[in-house]
Amino acid sequence: MTDTWPDIAPAAGTPACGPPSFAPERGWWVTRHADVRTALTDPAFRVPVVDSGPPGTLAWLRASVSRFSSPPRHAERRSMVVTALAALDPDELRQEAARLTVAVLDRAGDRVDVMRELARSVPLRVLAGRLGIADPVAAGTAVAVVAAAYHPGVDVAVLRRADRAVATLLAVVPPAAPEVRANLIGLLVQACDATAGLIGAAAHHLLPLPGGDPSGAGRTAELLTEVLRLDPPVRATRRVTVSAVRLGGRDLPAGSQVLLRFDAANRDPTVFAEPAALRPGRPGAALLTFGAGERGCPGDRHALALATGVLDVLRERCRRIEAPLCHEPHPTLSVAKTLEVSVR
Ligand code: HEM
Repeated sequence: MTDTWPDIAPAAGTPACGPPSFAPERGWWVTRHADVRTALTDPAFRVPVVDSGPPGTLAWLRASVSRFSSPPRHAERRSMVVTALAALDPDELRQEAARLTVAVLDRAGDRVDVMRELARSVPLRVLAGRLGIADPVAAGTAVAVVAAAYHPGVDVAVLRRADRAVATLLAVVPPAAPEVRANLIGLLVQACDATAGLIGAAAHHLLPLPGGDPSGAGRTAELLTEVLRLDPPVRATRRVTVSAVRLGGRDLPAGSQVLLRFDAANRDPTVFAEPAALRPGRPGAALLTFGAGERGCPGDRHALALATGVLDVLRERCRRIEAPLCHEPHPTLSVAKTLEVSVR
């Protein structure tokens, strides 16, 4: 067993920390920890508005969930999500995720694709089951289709498939007011790719290769916190300025498109000593991967619990198979396509 872990280098394309920078083709990038925190909490920076559509479609879903709501509606919708999550016990989620992971590994041959068999399915099945969804397996499949179309800019065929997936989900979500049901689905969609991305990144960084030390030291939850910081599944989030605002010494005009780069800010050397070092239990860990303020992730403890349940079992029973890691194409998320491990 090793006591120390190798450094984790920044993923390709991660900018260095510096003052907010502007380029016409991409808008503003915010990379310093303090500037990202300010932008997440300053009302001059708003979540971009989304268009609505007929009831029961993807566009309706996006326009109904707290994630994309503007201030007058956000607090009320967020409270629907927070109420649903308050009924779930993170420790019980962890245990159930571990139980399902053991079942998958017991059924598998000597190899398993962590992304397909575990990361993309176990967290959603556990969450959907605990939220009272009638068919957690079907819901998990439909949520993945919606998640692929959730952020603006996807083509029409993907949108049509997502419309059908929303209809599937509405058929299995418990009866309630339409907005409550939309936010229950929104919660699963938010959980989907980010939690899968975390599990994939953690399996990549934490599992030993054949012939390596059995496993490095450290509690899984603390290791995951460092993986979230150094290889965040959510690399960035978007805002638009609603008025002229000064940030980090730069003047941003009203209407500026802003990308808050968690991947860079989580490595800000003014906040994290030796930023590339994976140090479980870092004092005062202030990672930004779950956002911050009124819109910060309400499922952070749930995400960590679910990923811990899966990774506890993987660390016990699996070794990574050396292969190049490819990620799904996405502007702000980082989710491995496949990741094979050997099983014992
Ligand atoms: C590693 C996994 C996860 C990461 C990194 C993550 C990250 C984030 C971030 C950064 C935001 C805020 C986005 C912004 O301010 O623009 C957010 C929002 C949200 N997340 Fe997560 N999340 C994860 C897992 C989950 C899970 C498991 C759930 C539910 C159980 C969840 C539910 C939500 C919801 C409902 C919102 C919208 C909150 C609001 O509208 O106020 N997330 N998440």
